[in-house]
Amino acid sequence: MDVSRLKFRRFRPDRATDADRNRHAETSLAAGDFILPFFVVEGTCIDHPLPTLQGVSHLSIDKLVEAVGTARAEGVDKVLLFGVVEGSLKNPQATEATRTDSVVARAVTALKEAYPGVTVFTDVCVCAYTDHGHCGVLHGDQIDNDASLPLLAEMALTHARAGADFVAPSAMMDGQVAAIRARLDEEGYTKTQVLGYSAKYASKLYGPFRDAAASAPSFGDRKSYLMDPRNRREGIEEAAADLEEGAAWLMVKPSTFYLDVLAGVKARFPQVPLAAYHTSGETMMLRHGAAAGLFAWKDALLENLYAIKRAGADFIITYNAVEAVQFLK
Ligand code: PBG
Ligand code: ZN
Repeated sequence: MDVSRLKFRRFRPDRATDADRNRHAETSLAAGDFILPFFVVEGTCIDHPLPTLQGVSHLSIDKLVEAVGTARAEGVDKVLLFGVVEGSLKNPQATEATRTDSVVARAVTALKEAYPGVTVFTDVCVCAYTDHGHCGVLHGDQIDNDASLPLLAEMALTHARAGADFVAPSAMMDGQVAAIRARLDEEGYTKTQVLGYSAKYASKLYGPFRDAAASAPSFGDRKSYLMDPRNRREGIEEAAADLEEGAAWLMVKPSTFYLDVLAGVKARFPQVPLAAYHTSGETMMLRHGAAAGLFAWKDALLENLYAIKRAGADFIITYNAVEAVQFLK
């Protein structure tokens, strides 16, 4: 058969090389697409691998600086920080979250000092700091939305003061982006941007993260603030609200099960940078699939990340950013 007469297969004929296929690839991945999350703890010289989130560690600030140096050498220049504190420091008001010298604030300062060119994002939520593990403050056994807003705004402000480029509120309280934006502006941090966790679903894919951050709710679940997985249109409206409230970037989380939401947000706001969170459960599904012999880790990881990019993500938050970049070479 004359290959030139093929319609689609002329781009991928028998014996095509990678270069032939690359020429017609619609989607690409590069180091600059990735945002690498880290879990920061008090102390020095701590690099404690997490048993349920393979390849990720609790790091003290000195080790974090080292790890970001390694990531940077591979071209990964965006990081997202989560703080993890001792249980004895947790309380209903999450006081540890809003301290000026919190472990996250000091980590931000250390990173910006060591690598001014690295973009530092911080997660803004109180579930890792409240004794009950919910993402807002409680009134009885209910989440008090409006009482949670000043707390989130205060937490964001401490991160901005420390030098964060972006603060990323993940509590899904109504009005959280507006509250944070107003507080940052009031204090003169007009350049610090907000990355909204705009459409964050009440997903089963956060398990390894909750182990890592010791942030599982002690009672109930997060279904009153995180979104119902059945709702796509509502996810797009949540993104629209974040934008209106002053978010500079939007996010959909998790990623793989929500590619339709990603595509929908991208279609509605093509000009707004859109991130997707490749969550702890997504990465561990791939790890377990690979360990069971279902596929090769490298191939499955890249297929998953390409799918997220193809659906409309401009940026991918993934624990596997460094490995992915190495695999892409
Ligand atoms: C905190 C937060 C969570 C994740 C990011 N920020 C957990 C949760 O909402 O329970 C999950 C990330 C992951 O699974 O990798 N609100
Ligand atoms: Zn939370």
